Amino acid sequence: MSSLLLRNIQTLVQAESRPRSLAKGAEMADLPVLPDAYLLMENGRIAAFGPMNECPGRADQVLDAAGRLVFPSWCDSHTHIVFAASREEEFTDRIRGLSYEEIAQRGGGILNSARRLREAAEDDLYAGALGRLHEVIGHGTGAIEIKSGYGLSMDSELKMLRVIRRLKEASPIPIRATFLGAHAVPAEYRERREDYLDLLINRMLPQVAEEGLADYCDVFCDRGFFTPEETDRILQAGWRYGLKPKIHANELGYTGGVQVGVANRAISVDHLEYTGDAEIEALLGGDTLPTLLPSCAFFLGIPYAPARRMIDAGLPVVLATDYNPGSSPSGKMPFVVSLACIKMKMLPEEAVNAATLNGAKAMELESDYGTIAVGKVANVFISSPISSLAYLPYAFGSNLVETAILRGKVWESPSRQ
Ligand code: NIG
Ligand code: FE
Repeated sequence: MSSLLLRNIQTLVQAESRPRSLAKGAEMADLPVLPDAYLLMENGRIAAFGPMNECPGRADQVLDAAGRLVFPSWCDSHTHIVFAASREEEFTDRIRGLSYEEIAQRGGGILNSARRLREAAEDDLYAGALGRLHEVIGHGTGAIEIKSGYGLSMDSELKMLRVIRRLKEASPIPIRATFLGAHAVPAEYRERREDYLDLLINRMLPQVAEEGLADYCDVFCDRGFFTPEETDRILQAGWRYGLKPKIHANELGYTGGVQVGVANRAISVDHLEYTGDAEIEALLGGDTLPTLLPSCAFFLGIPYAPARRMIDAGLPVVLATDYNPGSSPSGKMPFVVSLACIKMKMLPEEAVNAATLNGAKAMELESDYGTIAVGKVANVFISSPISSLAYLPYAFGSNLVETAILRGKVWESPSRQ
């Protein structure tokens, strides 16, 4: 029995007495908050919360959170944090005028990361990814999804997924693993892409499933990558092996990716910078979640997804970082929340719902994470002293996460020990 009590919390954010599983449309602006509150955590779970005048007298550890806000940890449902090397040379090429697609066509981009990953030792990949995991926990992340997709061969994809499995075992936060063998067609298959599809569908997927290495199946369905027809085949094969779809779509154009994701009952379709009426209509007709990745739009200088139109149409919106070396070399959820407000005109309340409750739903973790509710896992963070909720997205770029609490215990960053 171990307990931790937070007292005098200025505002307890996303504290639910009636747990929801998702916030959509107009509900996204409803963020339950409790002023002048306490929060009691016992044995790793939320035991109770309420107004300070009902605060219990004792606990094993007591922290005073006066002047601070307490949030449920961010749920980052889209990352690629296993990679071998950064790609700042491509960043410079883009400043000089090349586009992301032109770099990819020249064999850079994802194929560049795949070459580097093939040469990397599993232990080095693991150490790098664990460092990134610790970094983002320090910025308030308390549940995360991680994709393969820089392997693009049987051996290298399995190497990546085994690294993710090791991370799952060592991580203080829950990790969902996604198989993204269909991230790009490898150079050696350029003239025979059907052979790569055959390898993906008939050899990689069965092996990944047999070893239990993934929870989800992803495809980069976009111009110059995989077509909707190819995506459809891969996702149907994924379902046959028990892997639900969670795909990349409509980052580079109106390609039909959203529609193919919805038709395949994807958990989420992610990116959606190119979303019009047809995509919104398709999303309204299913349960697939639109996940927006504004730090990718920021970094690549591409349009932001039309979050406002989606929410006004009644859709739920999810926010995630897309942390990866090519299109978003940053995994900071507070910055994503800032961009959502500044560039996509989401209200701070909407952005917090999108980055917590809806992010948990996009990893099917909403019964245990994403809000502060009795019985859920006690992954929360305490902010620095700040004046209000809106200060968090307003003060973009600052790290306002003072203390991360995971499973009811104060988390000490291994890099600071
Ligand atoms: O989500 N768009 C596809 N995949 C990643 C980028 C991968 C890369 O450039 O390395 C993304 O943006
Ligand atoms: Fe991505």
